[in-house]
Amino acid sequence: MDKKEELDKLKSGMEKDGNLPLKTFETNLVFGVGNPDAEILFVGEGPGFHENRLKEPFVGNAGMLLNRLLASINIPREEVYITNVVHHRPPENRDPLPEEISAYGKYLDEIIEIINPKVIVTLGRFSMAKFLPNARISGVHGKKFEVNWNGKNILVVPMYHPAAALRNGAVMEQIKNDFLKLPDYLKKEVNEESKIKIEQSELF
Ligand code: URA
Repeated sequence: MDKKEELDKLKSGMEKDGNLPLKTFETNLVFGVGNPDAEILFVGEGPGFHENRLKEPFVGNAGMLLNRLLASINIPREEVYITNVVHHRPPENRDPLPEEISAYGKYLDEIIEIINPKVIVTLGRFSMAKFLPNARISGVHGKKFEVNWNGKNILVVPMYHPAAALRNGAVMEQIKNDFLKLPDYLKKEVNEESKIKIEQSELF
C-alpha cells in the first residue's frame, strides 16, 4: 500500500468509528488534505464552520492566511499536508476538551506515522501541547525542537494559530517571521550543534 492508500484506509476506519466524541448528525469528518509525501505536516486545532461544510481543514479565513504564509516561502498548499488535533467540529467552535483530543489522538498519531514528515508545524496551543506539553507559545514560537515521538525523532516547530494572527497585529508579524524560518529548517540536517534539545527549563 502506498501512503495515499494508507491514509484512505485510515479515513474509512475513522468514518466507521462510533466512539468519536464530536461525531454528530451535524458534523462531517474533516480528516486532512494535501500531499501524502509532504515534508511538512501542519496540525491545527479543529474544524470550524467552513471546514465542516467543505470537509477540508483550513478553508476559512485562517486557511486563507495559511495559504498566504505558505506562498510567502514559495510552498504551494498542495505540497504540504494539513490536519487537526480533532477531526470533527466542536459545538459552537469551542475549544476541544482534553478527552476529545485524546480520543482523536490515535488517528493523528497514525497520520504522522504514515506521512513521516521532516517537520511538524503546530498551529496554536492545542497541537503544540501534544508535543511540548509544558511550553508557552509566547516563548517557543518559531523555534525548532527535536521531539522523540513514538520512538522516532521529529522536528516540531510551534507557531501561533493563524486565527490569533488575524486578531492581533503583533502576532501577525511573529507568524510571518516564523514562516520565513521554515525553508532553512527543512534544508539543514539536524546536527548536534543546531539541535535544540527540549529541556523543561527552556519551555517556560
Ligand atoms: N482552525 C483550525 O485549527 N483548523 C481548521 O481546520 C480551521 C481553522
